[in-house]
Amino acid sequence: MSLWSLLSTPIWGPGSVLLILVLLLRLGVKIWHKIHLWDLQGCSAELTGKTAVVTGANGGIGKAVSQELACRGARVILACRSREHGQRALNEIQAASRSNRLLLGEVDLSSMASVRSFVRWLLRESPEIHLLVNNAAVCGFPTTLTPEGLDLTFATNYIGPFLLTNLLQGALQRAGSARVVNVSSFRQAHGYIDEDHLIGAGRPLTFNQNYDCSKLLLASFTRSLAQRLQGTGVTVNSVEPGVVYTGIMKHFSWSYRFLFWLLSFFFKDSKQGAIPVLYLCLAKELDGISGKYFSSSCVITLPPKAARDPHVAQSLWNTTARLTNLDKVA
Ligand SMILES: NC(=O)c1ccc[n+]([C@@H]2O[C@H](COP(=O)([O-])OP(=O)(O)OC[C@H]3O[C@@H](n4cnc5c(N)ncnc54)[C@H](OP(=O)(O)O)[C@@H]3O)[C@@H](O)[C@H]2O)c1
Repeated sequence: MSLWSLLSTPIWGPGSVLLILVLLLRLGVKIWHKIHLWDLQGCSAELTGKTAVVTGANGGIGKAVSQELACRGARVILACRSREHGQRALNEIQAASRSNRLLLGEVDLSSMASVRSFVRWLLRESPEIHLLVNNAAVCGFPTTLTPEGLDLTFATNYIGPFLLTNLLQGALQRAGSARVVNVSSFRQAHGYIDEDHLIGAGRPLTFNQNYDCSKLLLASFTRSLAQRLQGTGVTVNSVEPGVVYTGIMKHFSWSYRFLFWLLSFFFKDSKQGAIPVLYLCLAKELDGISGKYFSSSCVITLPPKAARDPHVAQSLWNTTARLTNLDKVA
């Protein structure tokens, strides 16, 4: 069959119209993202002499954030759970940024023992930290207990960052001026706060609601910590990156992953998803701004009501401090 007769078959009529429509839609989405994303290239922030720690830096948003920070001269500590994956990411970031100021640290955020051992190593390597990006997270796990008796999703997405940040408070304050950036999710609006979830108990959670709830706890933590750090030179904010095509769905069933892949055509890529996070890391106008939640368009937005309740926040802080033995030295 000649090419001409193939193109003349009836399927090409509606088929090509559909293809053109999809391409136009894709172009529209790209333009929309471009208009709504912060102008990273226009930001002149330079980070020579600064140390940044990024968790979950071996892939997705964390890797893109780490690369940009390295390009701007920061010494970047890639805090990864797998040495092998972390080393691969480090090599790639090194090649892309031409930075020789990258360091790999091993940490499993779902394990309090691992967080403590990572902090001991980190403080020896770097007594001052100017930027901490709590980026690592998991989703798609049913209630699963870790060997330390915590729920895996809450341990990774909330308890790990809580412990890590608190143990690094001294290093952040020694830096004189430092930022903590918590990577949150719009899914926090679908969560609620039940402290028993931290240990795999409490009100039953529907499909993937543990992810939503864990992000809500992170929003409450962001506000509490910001209050506690007032006047120290350390600011704490959280940000929602938008819907980004990364490995975040890797623990879901193949059908969800397939759907995510199909729709990925309209999602942001990792570099675009990193931009709101980088805004919180770099933007000069955020000096002194703390305790806020930023949308993926980099606009200050109110977090859900439960995350703004001071009594809930106090109780949650006390419970998490007890669970993590926070008063125990690193
Ligand atoms: N993608 C989105 O649409 C979206 C939307 C809203 C919010 N977010 C948030 O954006 C952040 C980055 O996610 P992403 O989309 O870039 O997903 P990702 O590609 O899956 O990256 C997640 C990172 O977290 C690491 N991680 C998971 N469990 C860990 C543990 N126990 N200890 C240490 N590291 C661990 C992963 O390491 P391994 O490779 O070893 O698993 C990976 O490097 C997350 O906080 C996520 O909730 C993403």
